[in-house]
Amino acid sequence: MYDKILPHVSPIWNRNTNLIVDHAKGSYIYDVHGNKYLDFTSGIGVTSTGHCHPKVVAAIQEQASQLLHGQINIYYHKPLLELIEALQQVVPTSMDSFYFTNSGAECIEASVKLAKHATGRTNVIVFNGGFHGRTHLTMAMTSSKVGLRRNYQPLVPGIFVAPYPYSFYYGMEDDDTTDLCLKELKKLLKGQSAPEETACMVIEPVLGEGGYVVPPIRFMQELRDICTNYGILLIADEVQSGFGRTGKFFAFEHYGIVPDIMAVAKGIASGLPLSGVITRSDLAAKWLPGSHGGTYGGNAVACAAAIATLKVIQEEGLVQNAQVRGEQLRERLKELQYLYPTMIGDVRGLGLMDAVEFTNQGQPDPNMTKAVVSSALEKGLILLTCGTFDNVIRWIPPLIVTQQEIDQGADIFSQALNKCSK
Ligand SMILES: Cc1ncc(COP(=O)(O)O)c(C=O)c1O
Repeated sequence: MYDKILPHVSPIWNRNTNLIVDHAKGSYIYDVHGNKYLDFTSGIGVTSTGHCHPKVVAAIQEQASQLLHGQINIYYHKPLLELIEALQQVVPTSMDSFYFTNSGAECIEASVKLAKHATGRTNVIVFNGGFHGRTHLTMAMTSSKVGLRRNYQPLVPGIFVAPYPYSFYYGMEDDDTTDLCLKELKKLLKGQSAPEETACMVIEPVLGEGGYVVPPIRFMQELRDICTNYGILLIADEVQSGFGRTGKFFAFEHYGIVPDIMAVAKGIASGLPLSGVITRSDLAAKWLPGSHGGTYGGNAVACAAAIATLKVIQEEGLVQNAQVRGEQLRERLKELQYLYPTMIGDVRGLGLMDAVEFTNQGQPDPNMTKAVVSSALEKGLILLTCGTFDNVIRWIPPLIVTQQEIDQGADIFSQALNKCSK
């Protein structure tokens, strides 16, 4: 089926599977041959309310019959205003200005442009292993894989990379990693990008593509302090970690800090393209009107999907579910680490953003990682990898996932490990 068409799909897209989806519901997708798969990728952390949640679908259908596109420079529309009202209930009260875009990269670009206008400074500090997108600016901010930058150089200048506190990679305790990374950051501010030239620091509060790494609380708190002391704006890239994914509404809440700007996308609208920049009004007031914008940002149907998504997250207690099911999942994964200590080096995560890192005698093991993912796929479980060395399986089930589905996923994973260990 579609054999003659497939060669015409651009090869630029990396392929994780060759499945052709017919339809999807909740935690499952069904391919055109009628096979059923447990989808623990959630479209890379997008379909948090599950595939085709009936309330989100109904909101999209209803809005599509009222207004498809209400260009925001020309007029306001109800879904955009009502989305702002709904978001105000879940973000810190100090963050009271909302701007909408269409993709993760776009909201990061916009956040950095805002930081440049608000501070009058030019430079950006990012963290090693970070992934912020694939446009020219966000590619220059991205260091999760060299293949994302190769042959595109030279990149946008004025971007400086500090170490991300990835304790397992450094083979150090969290406290030592924190000390090392803060020391290097302070050196960077002395040696490469002076504070008075630095507009912002952009960090993923849980590192995504770079390996699903949870930074130590003290690192995040001291990072906040350094930014405050130097008047550098702290931008939280919550594109993957936001909207309940980590067991809090936003991942920065785990550290008791509030960023100056947050970039949100993915889980915000259950699959419709919507992203945004949320910040304080005093900063937004310094962003010169008309100096940024876009035709589709804040699309009416996408905003309606986001309003329904927020309602579902709240009504169905999905933030709490992410926390509880995440604990269940990590417990199962840690049991498997105990059974396969020569294959699994680390199990970590927050909520339903969890990782299994494969090592062989202390070295990254991408081949084993790949083998386990394909064995799981044969048994009906779709998993994704991440990590600079391609040796991490990331677990991002939808936030509606049930106890039975987590057990089903862990059982299949266990069978895959058993097969690949032989
Ligand atoms: C943390 C983070 N930031 C930014 C992006 C870029 O998002 P998009 O692919 O929608 O441009 C991603 C995508 O995976 C991401 O995980």
